[in-house]
Amino acid sequence: MLVTTKELLLDAQKKNYAVGAFNINNMEIIQAIIGAAEELNSPVILQASQGGIKYAGIEYIAALGKAAAQKAKVPVALHLDHGTDFDQIVLCIRNGFTSVMIDGSKYPFEENVAITKKVVEIAHAVGVSVEAELGKIGGTEDDITVDERDATMTDPEEARRFVEETGVDSLAIAIGTAHGVYKGEPKLDFERLKAIREVVEVPLVLHGSSGVPSESLEKAIALGICKVNIDTDIRAAFARGVKEFVAENPDEIDPRKILGPAREAMKEVIKDKIKIFGSVGRA
Ligand code: G3H
Ligand code: ZN
Repeated sequence: MLVTTKELLLDAQKKNYAVGAFNINNMEIIQAIIGAAEELNSPVILQASQGGIKYAGIEYIAALGKAAAQKAKVPVALHLDHGTDFDQIVLCIRNGFTSVMIDGSKYPFEENVAITKKVVEIAHAVGVSVEAELGKIGGTEDDITVDERDATMTDPEEARRFVEETGVDSLAIAIGTAHGVYKGEPKLDFERLKAIREVVEVPLVLHGSSGVPSESLEKAIALGICKVNIDTDIRAAFARGVKEFVAENPDEIDPRKILGPAREAMKEVIKDKIKIFGSVGRA
């Protein structure tokens, strides 16, 4: 069934687990996510980025996501990931997304507050929940010093003020993770997470979670992370599945046979994540 992200995250917050938010780009990825969630009786979030929407088309991705959610035996939310454009956010809401992210993290604090408030006002008017971001979650390829890294992390007092002033339903924070493939092992700032948790009441979101060791994810969840975003690890499983199959069956031309093993490979990765997040049996 299709639900809002807010209700999923509030339950996760109350019971101290996290809901996986997995990026969707095509039918096979969606089926892998739903299949994994159903096998483990877990709630799940399907999230489409602006790039994913551009690739598939808003009507296609929304229709696929909603069909999957409505048919699913577990609660499923349909979420816009890293929305930066007001008009596109409205379009997603119009197409049935049950939550949206407004990512104003590249703006100075006051501007981020202003754009986030605007989105909260229109989204809440139609029962759609909103995630915002404070601090900068970089890419792993970004070449920055330790001091620069610290400066981009979320400040607890700013986070408190941001949530109070905007009325957001959840907050993505920068505590040392980055998008993409990590060069070394990511080091999470758990003290910062604790300090944010103490002053912010809404559920907290961890981005750039692919490649983060499971013990770090478990610790972050124990300290208050309620939504964990995964994209890169799914991409890697997809590519591995396709490459392995094609290498072993170079003459195969049936797309179903080529993509089927990739779907299975993604499902296994997603099941492993769901187990780490502690959402098994929470549907
Ligand atoms: O918003 C999407 C996530 O933050 C994905 O991060 O590609 O490192 O898993 P990831
Ligand atoms: Zn992200």
